[in-house]
Amino acid sequence: MSQKSRFLPYGRQTLDKKDINAVIKVLKKDYITQGPLITKFENAFSKYVGSKYAVSCSSGTAALHLSCLALGLKPGKKLVTSPISFVASANCGEFVGAKISFVDVDDKKFNLSTQKLEQKLKKEKIDVVVVIHMAGHPADLRKLRELKKKYKFKLIEDACHALGGKYKKSKIGSCDYSDICTFSFHPVKNITTGEGGMITTNDKKIYEKLKQLRSHGINKSSNQFLNRKLAFDYNGKKNMWYYEMGHLGFNYRLTDFQSALGISQLRKINNIIKKKRIIAKLYDKKLSNNNLISIPAHQSDIIHAYHLYTIMVDFKKLGKTRNQVMEELRKKSIGTQVLYIPIHYQPYYYNKYKYKIGSFPQSEKYYNNCLSIPIFPDLSRKEINHIIKTLLKVIN
Ligand SMILES: Cc1ncc(COP(=O)(O)O)c(C=O)c1O
Repeated sequence: MSQKSRFLPYGRQTLDKKDINAVIKVLKKDYITQGPLITKFENAFSKYVGSKYAVSCSSGTAALHLSCLALGLKPGKKLVTSPISFVASANCGEFVGAKISFVDVDDKKFNLSTQKLEQKLKKEKIDVVVVIHMAGHPADLRKLRELKKKYKFKLIEDACHALGGKYKKSKIGSCDYSDICTFSFHPVKNITTGEGGMITTNDKKIYEKLKQLRSHGINKSSNQFLNRKLAFDYNGKKNMWYYEMGHLGFNYRLTDFQSALGISQLRKINNIIKKKRIIAKLYDKKLSNNNLISIPAHQSDIIHAYHLYTIMVDFKKLGKTRNQVMEELRKKSIGTQVLYIPIHYQPYYYNKYKYKIGSFPQSEKYYNNCLSIPIFPDLSRKEINHIIKTLLKVIN
């Protein structure tokens, strides 16, 4: 398909020859799953974000699940997150039998409102808070760290949108303000491994637990074996085949060829962010004069990772439904998306926790107006202009 006429989704992978060759090279080797590139990718990732440790896994969802397990979340404990995210941000608590509740988002960046979180913390003990850097705009991590110290909860940054972003002097993923940070490498994210995820932490114990849980809860290190008789022969030598399962874990491993792709993609992250920020600036400039459109907020002390570029549209004033607008844009090869339907609107959650429309007004207001428009690095100037021009024609 020619550049001119291709369909432009809200986000997509950008793969070049180097990425493809890196994968092919591994596919020709002996180890295509648990080979040396997994550790290489983890080391490169932790170096890039500035964390002590990184553990790769099979998806962003697996990263969140493993994180909840590693932090000891279980039945009888409570997890809080915000309704404006992908369902996985809440589901991870459900996976381990914890009780889930939500705190509404703020009215500008649509991240979890720290003010509303504190109101909740004053009333009840919360064990884990999952904060989302919505669209790639870092949440208020300084305030969250302050609350974490005061109210003694564990903090997970669901950073699936924010690879390449920065909060003050810290790269997202450094865990300077949190216990754990999780990432997704789904193709719409800032880098991809097909499916894939990463967890970062600065805590050695958490790191070791994560590594075991990712691979069936199995331990292969002889100094930790509990059943010494089975583990060693009568010469005191470790039996070559021996391993122990101390915890109930999963197969959430990333493969070696996915890691090869991850390493290759990570080399380009600064360039990817640079290009996305240029596109966002163009959108900001051209869309801000339309009084039916609000452009995304941008705090001065952060670097926005622009996983998404989400505008708010006053559909009521416009006199068209969002569906109509999306359809009109689709006819011009422009893909848009609604990210996200508030999680408490999902039947699983409202049936279980008895949420109603109106439970989280700011999230609901966001949902009624949001529209994510295409942003990915290889959008050409021509395509960007086409998006801007068409959007201004449709929303007018
Ligand atoms: C905020 C957020 N959390 C978690 C996930 C889950 O990641 P994955 O699709 O890799 O499982 C996503 C992906 O859509 C996400 O956007």
